[in-house]
Amino acid sequence: MRILEITNLKKTFHSNFLIKKYRILKGIDISVEAGEIYGFLGPNGAGKTTTIKCIMGLLFPDEGEILINGRPADTIDARRPIGFLPENPYFYDYLNANELLNFSASLYSIPAAAARERIDRLIQQVGLAGFERLKLRKFSKGMTQRLGMAQALIQDPDFLILDEPFSGLDPIGRKEFRDLILNLKEQGKTIFFSSHILQDMEMMVDRVGIIINGKISRQGKLSELIAGSTRCHEIVCSQISEKQLALIHPNFVRRDNQYIITLDNEAEINLVVESIIHNNGLVIAVNPVKKTLEDIFLNEIGEVQ
Ligand SMILES: Nc1ncnc2c1ncn2[C@@H]1O[C@H](COP(=O)(O)OP(=O)(O)OP(=O)(O)O)[C@@H](O)[C@H]1O
Ligand SMILES: [Mg+2]
Repeated sequence: MRILEITNLKKTFHSNFLIKKYRILKGIDISVEAGEIYGFLGPNGAGKTTTIKCIMGLLFPDEGEILINGRPADTIDARRPIGFLPENPYFYDYLNANELLNFSASLYSIPAAAARERIDRLIQQVGLAGFERLKLRKFSKGMTQRLGMAQALIQDPDFLILDEPFSGLDPIGRKEFRDLILNLKEQGKTIFFSSHILQDMEMMVDRVGIIINGKISRQGKLSELIAGSTRCHEIVCSQISEKQLALIHPNFVRRDNQYIITLDNEAEINLVVESIIHNNGLVIAVNPVKKTLEDIFLNEIGEVQ
């Protein structure tokens, strides 16, 4: 089942006095299936936040259709099952985390006892235990991000839209958020998130959409985007001198007592292996190196030939 379907989404911003037009979204098509983690990837200014704001009804698109569970997104009912973490969550400074989450729970009419239990659990889950009574003006960026995540989860949403959820988090926080998101997927939830941190995406997403300059340039299963895309081959060898190796192939590095030769051209493998053996060297392994999401992303934005 399709939980989010965006077709031909267009959005133009105007400068003051409407003199200049900036076409930011130039016909975006995105589809997100129920139960998957969808990574929305793109460089700064590509239009990720603008797309997300259109989904959330914070901006009005010029053209196009956004359906949530088959219903137009511009109704509150259609958006009700969505938990949303904005790019820069901003909260009222003089509340504490408990008060803010209680306020959010009351907006969703969650009964007090259930809210209490859920808030305690969420505070633990997002790693804010011990900071429940600290005023939010004293929160660090990472703590605010954690609180934003708790708030996004307060009504136990089926569908989560997270704009840069990892921003401001330290490596431990990133790992905790990854685990939290994977855990939500296991519970059957759907997650749509934008991020620049490719490693985080690579570790979690089922499908990815790459937006560049207001257009989706690639969309697909991560496994399909990466599959069959061998970037290069590595030959691991030892028992050969650096001098001999340099004559065989110039592109190698030393790691402990082994050498790793990188070959861009598959056709060179046999010749290099034979030459190492001929020089009484030991060939330990020949490994294909798969493309990463980063390679695909850089390729798309034209930074890799
Ligand atoms: N309200 C606005 N008025 C005019 N231009 C805007 C407005 N909001 C965004 N833009 C422009 O639209 C473009 C896309 O911005 P957007 O915030 O969607 O990018 P993004 O992909 O989320 O980038 P980032 O990775 O930096 O968060 C940018 O060039 C930005 O300057
Ligand atoms: Mg953004």
